[in-house]
Amino acid sequence: MPWWRNAVCYQIYVRSFADSDGDGIGDLPGVTARLPHLRDLGVDALWLTPFYTSPQHDHGYDVADYCDVDPLFGRLSDADDLIRAAHELDLKVMVDIVPNHTSSEHAWFREALAAKPDSAARRRYLFRDGRGPAGELPPNNWRSVMGGEAWTRVIEADGTPGQWYLHLFDSSQPDLDWRNPEIGDMFEEVLRFWLDRGVDGFRIDVAHSLFKAEGLPDYDEPQDRPAPTAFTEDGALLDQHFDQGPMWDQPEVHDVYRRWHKVLAGYDGDRVTVAEAWTHTRESMARYVRADELSQSFNFAWLESPWSASAFRRVIVDTFAALDAVGAAPTWVLSNHDTVRHTTRYGGGALGRARARAATLTMLALPGSSYLYQGEELGLEQVEVLPEHRQDPVWFRSGEPGRDGCRVPMPWSGDHPPYGFGGPAWIPQPADWAGLTVAAQQADPRSTLRWYQNVLRARRDLVGASVEIVDLGPDVLAFRRGDLLVLVNCGASAVPLPAGEVIASSDPSQPDPTSLEPDSAVWIRD
Ligand code: NOJ
Repeated sequence: MPWWRNAVCYQIYVRSFADSDGDGIGDLPGVTARLPHLRDLGVDALWLTPFYTSPQHDHGYDVADYCDVDPLFGRLSDADDLIRAAHELDLKVMVDIVPNHTSSEHAWFREALAAKPDSAARRRYLFRDGRGPAGELPPNNWRSVMGGEAWTRVIEADGTPGQWYLHLFDSSQPDLDWRNPEIGDMFEEVLRFWLDRGVDGFRIDVAHSLFKAEGLPDYDEPQDRPAPTAFTEDGALLDQHFDQGPMWDQPEVHDVYRRWHKVLAGYDGDRVTVAEAWTHTRESMARYVRADELSQSFNFAWLESPWSASAFRRVIVDTFAALDAVGAAPTWVLSNHDTVRHTTRYGGGALGRARARAATLTMLALPGSSYLYQGEELGLEQVEVLPEHRQDPVWFRSGEPGRDGCRVPMPWSGDHPPYGFGGPAWIPQPADWAGLTVAAQQADPRSTLRWYQNVLRARRDLVGASVEIVDLGPDVLAFRRGDLLVLVNCGASAVPLPAGEVIASSDPSQPDPTSLEPDSAVWIRD
């Protein structure tokens, strides 16, 4: 069985992990120096967010050169050193690939701007003439995911306003035209470049975009669209996300992943691909992980599940039903660099911490791979970042607070900022994090960090690739995996615990070993 079918992968947001040179921004040597933390935590793999040459308008998701390291993060030799050091500690390394768009500073886009309409250089991107008598209106009505129009007009070489280019994200992230074969060839070279350097796989950014429907037709977002985390009474996930419409999930994208599958299959070891595809249904998620396509797809329904036994149950059942049909293993995730940290989503404070541990313990009992996001092992909460410190393009484009609050640099040691991170952190760290540092928590046997270490150790003994739901009423999610019984109490009162050996508990200090308190979870071997 490939290692990634049942692994724990730790996401490193490189800017915010560890800063080795004191400029206040995390870097690759910083990651290498802190690898023992990941070994001690007990994860199997790490995923590095983009560290390639980039003007950093979207913190690396705007790539100017896919085959080099931005000086902010180090040099190419630092990437090699990191990969080697991780392998020596038995940690796999996944890197991020961003195929939907380049940076506006990529050589191809600069060439396109200098070239004429309808030139080969412009055909690598989605340049179009505008609508209206003088082309003054955007070519269609699409909106950027980050707010505002999805089109920007360029000034042509003669100084007059000219064509428009598509950007589903920031204007510094022009979308590539995947109908042009040059694009697929370029990305095959990029994959091979990093595979040859020894990476174990790729996380694929907005994997369900790439192709847009022919003719780029107008699209009106449904007006009555429910909120992104809407669930029905019985826990079914409702319509949501930026996943519908002519810019997402087009059938042609699957040919790309069949090609990538063949590229990876030509390398030794079990190299892995994981799709970031905010798809509409479990079934559309499953299409990305058919046997000749990608290895995994993030299961965002789990991350979006409210604190509800029926919602959790529904996601688990639907996930296995959809993935069993294509023979793929599931993934589970609760936090990442784009979402509010799960401790805060589940209520913050003591309640949020209790529920976050319970949801994490449940996730880690499920067959498949779990993805952890840096800092969750410290119980970090979302930080309220002051407007003057916000850097996310989402904030600048939409006026929404954006994602900086989950990207605040890691606290490693010491009593005050930057808590051993390096230089003064690029987003200020809270003044009350002294008790949350890695050093402080390592010294406290009851800390969140020590709890994660213990649970990840216990997880290594779990067996079984399927789960069987056990009915213990509407407020308790219960399931069996092999000889393990997992219970989560989402109700308001304690429930009796079945007899058996408690292997792990979200609240090891629970006073009564015969009952399960609200907002907690337990693994029992009976
Ligand atoms: C998804 C990434 O996770 C996010 O951080 C980024 O802004 C967009 N893709 C655009 O690349």
